[in-house]
Amino acid sequence: MAEFAKGDHCLLTDGKGRKFLLTLDPGSVFHFHNGMVAHDDIIGRPQGSVVKSSLGGRLVAVQPRLADYILNMKRGAQVVYPKDIGPILVWGDIGPDMTVLEAGTGSGALTMALLRAVGPGGRVVSVERRDDHAEHARRALEAYLLGLPPNLELRVGEVADQVADVGPDRLVLDLPEPFGVVEAAAESLPSGAIWVSYVPTIPQVQQTTEALRAAGCFAEISNFEVMHREWNIDGRSVRPDHRMVGHTGFITVARKIDPA
Ligand SMILES: C[S@@+](CC[C@H](N)C(=O)[O-])C[C@H]1O[C@@H](n2cnc3c(N)ncnc32)[C@H](O)[C@@H]1O
Repeated sequence: MAEFAKGDHCLLTDGKGRKFLLTLDPGSVFHFHNGMVAHDDIIGRPQGSVVKSSLGGRLVAVQPRLADYILNMKRGAQVVYPKDIGPILVWGDIGPDMTVLEAGTGSGALTMALLRAVGPGGRVVSVERRDDHAEHARRALEAYLLGLPPNLELRVGEVADQVADVGPDRLVLDLPEPFGVVEAAAESLPSGAIWVSYVPTIPQVQQTTEALRAAGCFAEISNFEVMHREWNIDGRSVRPDHRMVGHTGFITVARKIDPA
């Protein structure tokens, strides 16, 4: 953990805050606008070391946080942003040893966070309807996890068809039509299970909420969005950053109950 080893992920940050993600591979060389750095010059160095590029650039080398990894990895489908992943995990109450059914796998970003939350004693089944996205996610997850763990199952298909088979403690949906999954969730989610869905527009939120209400077996339905504003602290310039991610998605959380 203290020193970089072969196969570790490494985040390099230059003096202007530009970030570059590597997986350390002996013999490989990282090239960027300010020269190059041999991976062998990082392997064996302590986390937090400053490494110099061939053109004299200084780069800080650290192990990426999951948030860094997600924001800097190659993406296929749009990922869930870290600002939303935290609340999805906390309000969805996703924790050790749980079984989570997730869709769509997309780029696999949320899958990474779900796996970490359930731990080795839990199980994540992630469903993706598009072959190309499923393949991209499989490669992204293999790269991040250095192989696929036995408690992760990647399935290609429609998530509504998987709810009965998996019977999850938590159902997490990042797809455009979560309302299309309500019927299957009403029939097959165990009582007490939690529904979390994530969509970019209010008509989708409204349709999802109305479908959950109409099903008659979901309680504590709540809808919210998350704002994350960075602040600039520099001498007398103490103010919000000029730029921010203005909008990502709305989160809907609900609890499956047994109304009988
Ligand atoms: C926005 S992406 C998910 C991104 C993912 N959460 C991440 O963080 O990388 C939405 C994905 O859902 C998939 N999808 C849409 N409807 C689906 C369904 N009914 N069942 C399974 N996958 C679905 C799409 O093909 C797409 O890849």
